[in-house]
Amino acid sequence: MTREEKIRLIKERHEHVIDTLHKHGQDILKSTNYYKTRGFIQHGDMTVYDHCLSVAERAIKINRALHAKCQERDLVRGALLHDYFLYDWHIDGKDKGNVHPKLHGFFHPSTALKNASRDFNLSPREKDIIKKHMWPLTVIPPMCREAWIVTLADKYCSAMEAIGLHRARVRIKNNDVNINEKGEQTF
Ligand SMILES: [Fe+2]
Ligand SMILES: [Fe+2]
Repeated sequence: MTREEKIRLIKERHEHVIDTLHKHGQDILKSTNYYKTRGFIQHGDMTVYDHCLSVAERAIKINRALHAKCQERDLVRGALLHDYFLYDWHIDGKDKGNVHPKLHGFFHPSTALKNASRDFNLSPREKDIIKKHMWPLTVIPPMCREAWIVTLADKYCSAMEAIGLHRARVRIKNNDVNINEKGEQTF
């Protein structure tokens, strides 16, 4: 396969992922409250917004690669909302919503679920994804394949962000993809 063909294939796949995000998550991505996630840092220099898009993208790819036959709508919406806790977890302060600053990892799934249930109609699978995505911290394991895949995608993306290898690249407005000189998609 030539470099040009490889780039075209990567771009087509990327556009397909963007279309899937649009198809299932447009109302979430366009909501005022969700927009706030652009103002909070998740890991490194990644915002919560970029992290959630990244996790949704990864979850779509894992589902397709494994032929896991997930409900794609639940998978995408659960991934987009899995960290919808709406506060800066680096800042210690109950008044800012960070009720358990030292235990953010344990408590933010329930805060995200509370916020998401308030702002959107959630299916049982979407609820399970949000609630269990920090497993094994959240003792009770995921109950559906969609939640397992988002849990896996979240751990992968978080690790890549923490070591600085993962940067914001899923863009809804402009479908830009980073391609290196070897024709490989880069982070
Ligand atoms: Fe999380
Ligand atoms: Fe996350």
